[in-house]
Amino acid sequence: MTRIDVITIFPEFFSGMLGASLLGKAIARGDLEVGLHQLRDWTVDKHRTVDDTPYGGGRGMVMKIEPLVAALEAVSRPGAIRILMSARGKRFTQARAWELANAGRPIVLVCGRYEGVDERIVEHVDEQLCIGDYVLSGGEVAAAVVIDAVARLVPGVVGNRESLVEESFSEGLLEYPQYTRPEVFRGSRVPDVLLSGHHGDVARWRHEQSLAATRAVRPDLLAGRPEAEEAPGGGGASPGKGARRRKGRERMPEGQGTAASSGAREAAGTADGEPAGGPGEPGGDGSKGPGGPGTAP
Ligand SMILES: C[S@@+](CC[C@H](N)C(=O)[O-])C[C@H]1O[C@@H](n2cnc3c(N)ncnc32)[C@H](O)[C@@H]1O
Repeated sequence: MTRIDVITIFPEFFSGMLGASLLGKAIARGDLEVGLHQLRDWTVDKHRTVDDTPYGGGRGMVMKIEPLVAALEAVSRPGAIRILMSARGKRFTQARAWELANAGRPIVLVCGRYEGVDERIVEHVDEQLCIGDYVLSGGEVAAAVVIDAVARLVPGVVGNRESLVEESFSEGLLEYPQYTRPEVFRGSRVPDVLLSGHHGDVARWRHEQSLAATRAVRPDLLAGRPEAEEAPGGGGASPGKGARRRKGRERMPEGQGTAASSGAREAAGTADGEPAGGPGEPGGDGSKGPGGPGTAP
């Protein structure tokens, strides 16, 4: 079970995401526990003030240190990893999500608001995480991203853990295009190789597609990899429009499934526990890929 506590002035922000889908089920099962804490509960004035004007002047307000530290001290369980959501933090990656999910430690997320947080907060948190190079109006969206990314990696939350090994960021490449029924949609056909039933050919095609899509859209992900030197479109592949998800260069930490390449796994016919997708073949757990006839993907 993983415990995540969130300190925020908008606890209600999280109610939708925590009640729905995978996270809702994980919480109901007891695999995940999320505590939402109203920062104003740790204020001492009658207006429950959490912000004040910045020293040195300037626009906007700054979150006060006293209620934040009081809240942190009150909600942090022993061994907790305390994280401030901040545009000035280190980039949050899939690798960090795996580390947090595997740490076996409670997590506390602090959501900033206004122009930011009194800098002395850094003495009371373990790290600052930034979810991307843009500025949000508050840390709640960023915390929601961290909760979602970490929670789905907690054992038990996603039923088919092999799919976590397979998916975005595990191989350092953008994902290959995916298709499901129908075979032809408005004249647009599913690539023949995916209908061939030949696992090796499918695996090769997917790898080529991943490489081509990564070169086209995120060449930075290839820096330092041998594939970066190969001719664009190696193997004749071109990036499919369906390269929907990214694969970063991060590897899963030890103990999170096999280190084998997706190609090798697929060649062995074990990707997501699904067959190579020949017509009429059943679709594993039904959560990805074509299901049996009449099964919604
Ligand atoms: C309006 S922002 C403050 C931005 C700050 N003035 C700056 O320029 O870095 C308010 C709060 O949103 C959160 N936030 C904004 N952008 C973020 C990002 N990219 N990643 C994580 N948290 C972010 C932080 O908690 C921040 O304290």
